Amino acid sequence: MPFTLLEIQEALQSSGDAQTALFTKADQVRAQKVGNAVHLRGLLEISSYCAQNCFYCGLRREHTLLARYRIPPEEIIHLAKEAIQQGFKTIVLQAGEDVWFSAEKVAHIISEIKKSKVAVTLSLGERPREDFQCWKAAGADRYLLRLETSSPDLYAQLHPGQSWHNRVRCLEDLKELGYEVGSGFIIGLPGQSLELLAQDLKWLVDFGVDMAGLGPFIPHPQTPLGTYPSGNLDLALKAIATTRLILPDINLPATTALDALSPNGRWQALQAGANVLMPNLTPMAYQQRYNIYPDHHEACSNLSFKAEHAFKERLTALGRFISTDLGGHKKA
Ligand code: 5AD
Ligand code: SF4
Repeated sequence: MPFTLLEIQEALQSSGDAQTALFTKADQVRAQKVGNAVHLRGLLEISSYCAQNCFYCGLRREHTLLARYRIPPEEIIHLAKEAIQQGFKTIVLQAGEDVWFSAEKVAHIISEIKKSKVAVTLSLGERPREDFQCWKAAGADRYLLRLETSSPDLYAQLHPGQSWHNRVRCLEDLKELGYEVGSGFIIGLPGQSLELLAQDLKWLVDFGVDMAGLGPFIPHPQTPLGTYPSGNLDLALKAIATTRLILPDINLPATTALDALSPNGRWQALQAGANVLMPNLTPMAYQQRYNIYPDHHEACSNLSFKAEHAFKERLTALGRFISTDLGGHKKA
């Protein structure tokens, strides 16, 4: 059923019983449309270098105090193979916009990982279409590129030197080239009204995303937006739940930024429409330097064996289980 902008905005504004009903409905639709499996995506943050200067992000190039790193390609391949041995069915390669990782270097990493029967997701920012094409030919399956905001004006204010239209061009190229495309927004970005957030969610439908990453804004003190308030946890959960209703069969991660606001953030999202988790498999020595927003407790990182076991038991108690398939977007 199509949703109007006004209905989306009403869902985002709900509180009390209406908010509880929204979460319950989203959980039911999730169960009906994508089932009880929770897909794990193993995240490797392969480079913290970034050519861009987004106002909200700790990896922005003017954050010169940050010690940057690149994981050497052979080490990335090794880490990916370890993750595959542990049972991960999707490997996500994420980085700032770093041209050191040339099309050829990334293609080599992809083809090595694709020797195993797993999916490869890339999250490497805006690149020329030829790079996307080269990586698709090397076997990449999915690409994550958040639009961050559907307003070209707000986009221009927060992304000096970048173009909203080029970002949409990248997303369209990716779709045409046959990637499963993930996009999304920061919830509670300074300057984002509720009306604009409703438009953001509507954009996900109009574009036809396969996956939507929606996480709250977390201020990073060493950025121009460092003194603005955090996004609101309930609003982020309502955005996820609403997205499950308007795009019933897509993949929806319980995003890491939720856990920066509450130790139960991702857990709540899994009960309000989300069906994906992205455990961070980046070795700690690197991960500590990949500070998009300030560090928080270890919940988002590689869970200890004991914690992981407890987590699986909690999932099982809810009738949920860790998926053993690749977990691509199965369009209804
Ligand atoms: N708070 C929340 N999310 C952020 N991102 C970048 N900076 C922040 C922040 N301060 C998100 C952006 C980017 C993704 C990798 O992280 O949406 O696409
Ligand atoms: Fe770079 Fe992405 Fe951070 Fe922007 S959000 S500064 S592109 S890593």
